[in-house]
Amino acid sequence: MELISRMMDGSIPYDPEGRLEPVLSGPGAKQEDKIERLKEVALFEACSQRQLRSVARIARVFDVAAGTLLTRAGEPGDEFFLIIDGTARAEVSAQKHVLLHPGEFFGEMSLLDGGPRSATVVADTPLRLLVISRRHFAGLLKDVPGLTETLLVTLSRRVRQAEDRAERLRG
Ligand code: CMP
Repeated sequence: MELISRMMDGSIPYDPEGRLEPVLSGPGAKQEDKIERLKEVALFEACSQRQLRSVARIARVFDVAAGTLLTRAGEPGDEFFLIIDGTARAEVSAQKHVLLHPGEFFGEMSLLDGGPRSATVVADTPLRLLVISRRHFAGLLKDVPGLTETLLVTLSRRVRQAEDRAERLRG
């Protein structure tokens, strides 16, 4: 099971090496602080205060160290990730690595189709991530205006890139 899943379901309270730490979401964290951070994320710019409050209720924020494995290709996955700070690396194949930057997201594919992770994703730098579990994903789509459309555009772009790449490999 992915490390973040185990953090999210409470089966490990924290990473033994201290590499993964929930922030802004512990008992002392103020909901208002989280909402202020959400306002800085472009994906949420069309959200009303009420919608931001809903997102803040279902989202958890994690800080992870560079090198942390976030998804592993071929394994099941139960979280959607949005990058707040830092860079992640999606290892789509041995030859193709894609850098993902603040405001970009990953992990949507397994939540949408229920299939295994399509790529391994690793923290390329220290990362601050917003993490939404599968059971809250539908709520997120409902609460964030335009998110479904953004997901579709992103998926279309990834399919085109994959097809271009396959074409180039065929020669
Ligand atoms: P998922 O399959 O759930 O987990 C791995 C994630 O890597 C996947 O969702 C996408 O979010 C991301 N991913 C897969 N392929 C690409 C790609 N070609 N470019 C960028 N990100 C990708």
